[in-house]
Amino acid sequence: MAIETLSTTGMSREQAYRTVIAQTRQLISDEEDLVANLANVSSLLKHTFEDYLWVGFYLTSHSDPGELVLGPFQGRPACTRIRFGKGVCGTSASERRTVVVEDVDKFPGHIVCDSLSRSEIVVPIIAGGRVAGVLDVDSSELDNFGETDRKYLEELAKILTRLFDK
Ligand code: SME
Repeated sequence: MAIETLSTTGMSREQAYRTVIAQTRQLISDEEDLVANLANVSSLLKHTFEDYLWVGFYLTSHSDPGELVLGPFQGRPACTRIRFGKGVCGTSASERRTVVVEDVDKFPGHIVCDSLSRSEIVVPIIAGGRVAGVLDVDSSELDNFGETDRKYLEELAKILTRLFDK
């Protein structure tokens, strides 16, 4: 089955997020496999937003619930394991909240995976009362993420929740 990838050229950021969300709903209604779906969602995001340097998922380890392990992503190779409470991803996971970092150099404990990264947003995915993982987006531009990104990436994380309930 071909995945319908509508062109988002010329759209506002908000419209582009709405399109990605519609595409994601369609994708996950046809497929139940977690890795396949998260891989396609990271690809959709990376190819829609040219200002995304890196986008992907860190998933809570099954053997150690205090650790995040690298999941499907698009971008350069990244660090594979992050403790809850460490870096931007671990802070989002332990505090169960979205973390927006305008300047990664000013976030104490930021974990450098790609030296080109300048700003970052991390959204937790909470399923069945536990943090199943986080969605992480990096940009090479300073202060690249705002309320629109937060709103739609949180909506996306909520849609993905049901993949973890199975
Ligand atoms: N910067 C993140 C680590 C993951 S990479 O950006 C892909 C952090 O501080 O948690």
